[in-house]
Amino acid sequence: MKILSVVGARPNFMKIAPLADAMRGVPGLEHVLVHTGQHYDDSLSGAFFRELGIPTPDLNLGVGSGSHAAQIAETLKRLEPVLAQARPDLVLVVGDVNATAASALAAAALRLPLAHVEAGLRSFDDSMPEEINRRVTDLLATYLFASEPSGVENLRREGVCPERIFLVGNVMIDTLLRHRRAAADSTVLADLDLLDERRQPRAYAVLTLHRPGNVDDPAVLQRLLAAVAAIAPGLPMVFPVHPRTRERLQAFGLVPGPASAGGLRLLAPLGYLDFLRLLDQARLVLTDSGGIQEETTVLGVPCLTLRENTERPATLTHGTNQLVGLDPARIIAAGRAALAAPRPPHRCPPLWDGHAAERIVAILAERLPTRA
Ligand code: UD1
Repeated sequence: MKILSVVGARPNFMKIAPLADAMRGVPGLEHVLVHTGQHYDDSLSGAFFRELGIPTPDLNLGVGSGSHAAQIAETLKRLEPVLAQARPDLVLVVGDVNATAASALAAAALRLPLAHVEAGLRSFDDSMPEEINRRVTDLLATYLFASEPSGVENLRREGVCPERIFLVGNVMIDTLLRHRRAAADSTVLADLDLLDERRQPRAYAVLTLHRPGNVDDPAVLQRLLAAVAAIAPGLPMVFPVHPRTRERLQAFGLVPGPASAGGLRLLAPLGYLDFLRLLDQARLVLTDSGGIQEETTVLGVPCLTLRENTERPATLTHGTNQLVGLDPARIIAAGRAALAAPRPPHRCPPLWDGHAAERIVAILAERLPTRA
């Protein structure tokens, strides 16, 4: 049995890690890993492969940066001959980045079965490239692995045959649970001067921002940064800056200086273990990322999502996430309320237990043909 999986951007890497591990344990299963090269900086790509023990990709397509359409087109063009030559029994994709949708199209062009891990999530907001990627991928998938019940409901509503939908839990949470203990050895809190005299974490918050809708318009970005900095001016607010956001901050002349930044501390993107440690001990997280909404839910850390919608409603119903949108007054009020409140009770969505990847691989191993 040969499974070819394709990854391209940072959030894919923590999802493929436990799947690659689980596949390694199946006798007779050959796993081929292809990296599209959408993320190419070591801080967004190579560092994650090393820290999470992901096998070195068998091939890197070197697609690089570009628009949504250009990245999909380039990946499709470069992946098609690879699939034609490898003839896997299954193409496996995770998440919702451009690599995910492009690989789904390439698999469909060659009539290869496709599995989508994290199927069925919907923000119902077509201005997000990820929403288009999710819908295209699910439309073409043979096996649809949902991370939360809303995924199953959305797929059923869209008419997907129920036998092809599997609620398996969340592979990104597999990775989190596996690495939480190792992350406790990270020196990131000491390095950032976030420990008190007794070496205990001081109160601090974490901010991440990278969605085009939040960072591509100077007025929106400026308003968001001002609101976040105004929540608690004395509170250190650690802000690992995504390359897209750094580019925009520089282009708009918005890089806050020490006087205007409040507690904001801009950093380069962090590795997986350092970032996990930072999230784990934070008093409050503000983000527009999908994955961080899920990670804070499992860690029990209050999360304010700076978006009008989420494709991950289980983080609202079961977790610590709150949608606060982009209105400064609402962000400031929600931030202050979260800081004043006791830590929320800890609950997790069903099956976010560290075993999602094993379930997925068991389902596939049962259904895929074995080669003579
Ligand atoms: C992509 C995903 C997004 C995910 C995010 C995590 C899509 C549609 N979006 O967005 O869902 O949350 O990754 O990071 O696939 N750049 C670098 N170095 C790199 C890669 C990118 O400097 O290694 C810069 C480039 O200037 C590029 C910009 O970052 O133009 C944006 O990168 P891009 O690959 O377009 O998508 P992300 O915004 O990272």
